Parts: sequence; structure tokens; C-alpha cells
Amino acid sequence: MIKLGDYMLTNFNEMLSLAKEKKYAVPHFNINNLEWSKYILEECQKEKVPVILGVSESAIKYMGGSNTIVGMIKGLIKDLEITIPVCLHVDHGSSFETCKEAIDAGFSSVMIDASALKLNENIEITKKVVDYAHQKGISVEAEIGHIGSQGANPTNDMNATVEDCIKLYQATEIDALAPALGSVHGFYKEEPNLDFERMKEINEKLPIPLVLHGGSGIPDEQIKKAIACGISKINVNTELQAAWSYAIRNFLEENKKVYDPRKIISSGEEAIKNVIAEKIKLFGTI
Ligand code: 13P
Repeated sequence: MIKLGDYMLTNFNEMLSLAKEKKYAVPHFNINNLEWSKYILEECQKEKVPVILGVSESAIKYMGGSNTIVGMIKGLIKDLEITIPVCLHVDHGSSFETCKEAIDAGFSSVMIDASALKLNENIEITKKVVDYAHQKGISVEAEIGHIGSQGANPTNDMNATVEDCIKLYQATEIDALAPALGSVHGFYKEEPNLDFERMKEINEKLPIPLVLHGGSGIPDEQIKKAIACGISKINVNTELQAAWSYAIRNFLEENKKVYDPRKIISSGEEAIKNVIAEKIKLFGTI
């Protein structure tokens, strides 16, 4: 059972270690604005499940900056009387500076993604972020291998190796690892081809929780298999974006005279909440 809290942001350590032990996954939903954040918090509170709010670097810029986001999320947690554990997490931070700025502003967790670099350079940057974050009780996720983008299935040589995962973990003491094992950001053009064997092996060799990026569009059976192979955090963005924008497009088609932005934007609320509810159930978080 999760502990209900008192309006604080938390790192992901407790929520993910419980998920790893009990074999379910905590949802990481990306946020893009005030409304998405509100809908995610409300739906997760309704179901009493912990949640990780992921914010990409471009979303941080879009919303005005790290301080704006921290103020907004803390305000929502208080005003909506949210008592579930909420982790505010930088998604794919590309540098030490981005992570430091977010931590200083009050984020409770960061991902440093130096996966495009050579292993020794990835280790060096990740370790610098861990050293800064851990003194402040902030959790750190890192990435290794190459997660695909926009549909094309990655080739096997883009997948993380077990040896590199162990080296990265031992040299940095990260709190969670996203090993690229065939997943893709955005919708898939072909059936996803995840390396479950390697996922299982990495999970057996590492004591920390594993993260699956590119959670949109993976068939339910494969999601369940990934959780059985040790995935404890699943990132979802594209499916929320698609559901929200289709709903808004339909609303505008059917209501050509409406111009109140609150009516337009909130016409996507039900669609987004439906996706959240489905994912929570599928991930076994409830
Ligand atoms: P999708 O957009 O494919 O759901 O991936 C989200 C993600 O992995 C964010 O880090």
C-alpha cells in the first residue's frame, strides 16, 4: 500500500522500490501545461496511485521555466488536496546544468540522458548529476543504449548491453536505469520488438528499478511482459497527446462558435483521463 502524504513532492525511490518488489509499474506521464497536470493529479488521486510527472527540457521552456513548473505543481497539490505521492521529474535532461537548475528550483527527481555519448562520458556526466542530486535527496534516472524516435524500430545494435548497464550503475550509483531495449518515442510503425530476455537479465543483475521509455503504442501483452521482466516505471506521453488533440479537434468541429479557451482546452479532459485510467490499470498500479 502507498502512504498518503501531505502536499509534498517526493523523489521516486520509495514508490519505485515498492513497485519493483510487488511487480507493478508506476506511471510516468509527461506534462505540457496546467490542464494536463491537473487532470493527471486528479485521476491518480481518484485511484490512489503514486505518479511521476515528467517534464522534458522543451516542456520546461514552453511553460516558462523550472520555477514556474514547481510553483504550479505545488499549488495544484495544495489546492486540489492531493495526498498521493507525487514525483516531479525532469525527463531526458541533456546536461548537468539543466538538472541542477531544476533541482535548485524544487524538482524532486531528474533524468540525465547522456546516452548519445560514449560510455565513459555518460558515466562522467551522470556521476556529476548523482553527486549533486543525492546530497539533496533527489532521485536520478540515467539512460543507456539508444531509444528510437518517431516510429522506426531501432536496430539491435542500439540496445543497451548488460555489461554496460552494470558498469554505468556501479560507477554512478543511479537510482533507476532506462536501458534502451527496442522501444521508441512516438507511435510505432511496426510491431514493437522489445528484448525481454535482456530486460530480465539486466533486472536480475541490478538492484535498482528499470524504466521503459516510449510506453505509447506498445500492445498490452508486451507491457505486462515488460513488467514481469522487471520494469517498474513506464513513460507515457504520445498517447495522452493524441487523445487530447483528437478530442479538441472534434469539439472545435462541432462547436464552431465557441471561443472561450477554457471550454476548448477542457474538452480534452475526459479523453486524457480515460488514457490515464487505462494505463494505471494495465500497469497494475491500482
Ligand atoms: P511516448 O511519447 O512514446 O509515450 O514516450 C514517452 C517517453 O518515453 C518520455 O520519456
